[in-house]
Amino acid sequence: MNFLYIANERPCLILHGGAGPMDPSSEGMMKASKALRKAAQDSLKSGARDMALVVRSLEHLEDNPQFNAGYGSALQADGKPRLTAAVMDGRKQSFSGVISITDVRHPSRLAWALQDNSTRVLTGPGHELLARRLNQPVENLITQKRFEAWKKKLHDEFFVSDTVGALVCENGRLYAGTSTGGRGFEDPGRVSDSATVAGNYASRFAAISATGIGEEIVDDALAARLETRVRDGLGLEGAARKCYDEALAAKRSYGWIAVDVAGNISIAYVSDAMSYLAITFDGEVLASS
Ligand code: GLY
Repeated sequence: MNFLYIANERPCLILHGGAGPMDPSSEGMMKASKALRKAAQDSLKSGARDMALVVRSLEHLEDNPQFNAGYGSALQADGKPRLTAAVMDGRKQSFSGVISITDVRHPSRLAWALQDNSTRVLTGPGHELLARRLNQPVENLITQKRFEAWKKKLHDEFFVSDTVGALVCENGRLYAGTSTGGRGFEDPGRVSDSATVAGNYASRFAAISATGIGEEIVDDALAARLETRVRDGLGLEGAARKCYDEALAAKRSYGWIAVDVAGNISIAYVSDAMSYLAITFDGEVLASS
């Protein structure tokens, strides 16, 4: 099922581990689903809530080289990983992020730290100063596996997971976060959708995190468009259905997770597969890939 709508009223955390052209029944997909569950359970158990829960969940996934975010991210054509992440606080309707940064494992933490800054979207060299201020170590993020794949130009090997995303809905407060290593093998310096309002958005009405081909997500202004439809009264299910139908008609390859202010959830993708999880704060799994 690649269009899910879940009626829900309880505080919840929703995660995705990426959409793409992968076999939904592959071992990699199963591993990704398991990893999402572990990230959600550990993050909830830590007691983190609101935006701290979004960032904690993203950090978990950024630590796991299976996902294309943080450590073990995909390499661009010149052999370097460049990471992008953004968060958005729906109450404040405040977006912040980092774009194409290097050597920092947790771009989501930097994105969060920019929430109260006058500059809210940064790239290098500013991110280096910020990382130092936050005591984030400078690290080599390239795993042997990514390096070997890059040398052989083995793109397919890694289409088991992609961008990661996290949403929180808690007592009418909405938060969104998205983190990515991009598409892999792309032109050096390509900019991802994840730190744009097409890839990550939250307001008092809805929160959305997108995954898949960033150029298509931007062309469709996906997250902002879905939010606007909810804001204008279509309801999350109707808004998501409209975006889904449009994406299918345009033969897009992307997916999203979304939640509205009541706690209702949309999970949808028009790519081959997407890993995802929706879980309440008391641990009930509402949906899982
Ligand atoms: N959605 C991730 C990217 O295309 O960069």
